[in-house]
Amino acid sequence: MELHRVDAEPRDALDRPLRDLRISVTDRCNFRCPYCMPAEVFGDRYRFLPRPEILTFEEIERLAGLFVGLGARKLRITGGEPLVRAELPGLVRRLARIEGVEDLALTSNGFLLAAHARALAEAGLQRVTVSLDSLDPETFRRMSGSPHEPGRVLEGIDAAVEAGLGPIKVNCVVQRGVNDAGLLDLARHFHGTGHVLRFIEFMDVGTRNAWAEGEVVTAEEILARIDAELPLEPLEPGYPGEVARRWRYRDGGGEIGVIASVSRPFCGDCTRARLSADGHLLTCLFATAGIDLKQPLREGASDAELRELVVGRWLARRDRYSEERSAETSAGPGRRGRVEMYQIGG
Ligand code: GTP
Ligand code: 5AD
Ligand code: SF4
Ligand code: SF4
Repeated sequence: MELHRVDAEPRDALDRPLRDLRISVTDRCNFRCPYCMPAEVFGDRYRFLPRPEILTFEEIERLAGLFVGLGARKLRITGGEPLVRAELPGLVRRLARIEGVEDLALTSNGFLLAAHARALAEAGLQRVTVSLDSLDPETFRRMSGSPHEPGRVLEGIDAAVEAGLGPIKVNCVVQRGVNDAGLLDLARHFHGTGHVLRFIEFMDVGTRNAWAEGEVVTAEEILARIDAELPLEPLEPGYPGEVARRWRYRDGGGEIGVIASVSRPFCGDCTRARLSADGHLLTCLFATAGIDLKQPLREGASDAELRELVVGRWLARRDRYSEERSAETSAGPGRRGRVEMYQIGG
């Protein structure tokens, strides 16, 4: 007897389809953002995944093709920092040729973007999202754990636009007392540029950041601060299940977004699956366990067998962590064993 109709598009236990696959290509990064990879922990002696544990481009292409067959329409390449992986355009070329992919994007910290934007675009990448937490050099260094200048990230954004990867989304994680004094600077800077600046509420992802609710600046507060100087009005979602809520400047200066995963969780529409660099499927950003697809893949599993594994996991999926967190009075369920941000790239 066939357990699941593996040719159909599965819906999880909360009736959510699988629409997006976020693919982490490395657990390494050239930054050391304290909220993700604090330098004290991720020093010279930290053992990242050894090369043989990391999926090859061929393996990623095969798995991505299976996910697309199950309903994924949007692929996003993440890390760690994806651009530290050698020959990344080679992967982009493979993913771009999968039939059924409607959106192929990359999330990067921007540091290596100027060097790679053209090759990525030529390989078929459609757009990039760049993380940038502050324009103030001192705050930027503090939040990226790097000795670099934010100007380098801005150059990456410019290069991406020139390569045809625009409009660019710029993601800024907001941490109270760390970078929230600079939100308006960022808003002013990107106002009128066509780029979409998006503010992300600081989340309790992983186990490494000392998250405290007091450090979260809510989307409501962020919007109020910006609206006071640059008046805003709401926009409709760009597509169903969009993570960011969209707003536009009343003066025609473009749009911004807020990602309110703490104050207004959006698990109800969550159609995202995540594939870690070592081939584990995770069904939530806050998951504690994934299923290993690499081992069966390397042991010669057929497409049908791999599909069965993915479908079985998706059908059982009940994750809605952010909603559960906000239903709790304290900081939520324990954090032990959770997957880290740098393992799945957000
Ligand atoms: P677009 O396709 O451009 O709309 O991008 P996106 O918003 O789907 O992806 P992006 O990587 O830019 O997401 C921005 C940030 O939102 C991530 O880095 C996370 O911090 C957060 N985020 C994205 N997806 C989820 C999710 O499923 N759950 C939670 N809690 N946060 C998420
Ligand atoms: N809360 C919110 N966003 C985070 N990111 C990393 N850690 C957190 C966190 N704790 C963001 C990064 C980047 C994206 C991949 O996820 O800054 O923009
Ligand atoms: Fe690197 Fe992104 Fe983590 Fe910062 S948040 S350390 S840029 S992976
Ligand atoms: Fe999806 Fe988990 Fe984020 Fe909720 S917390 S939106 S289920 S990834």
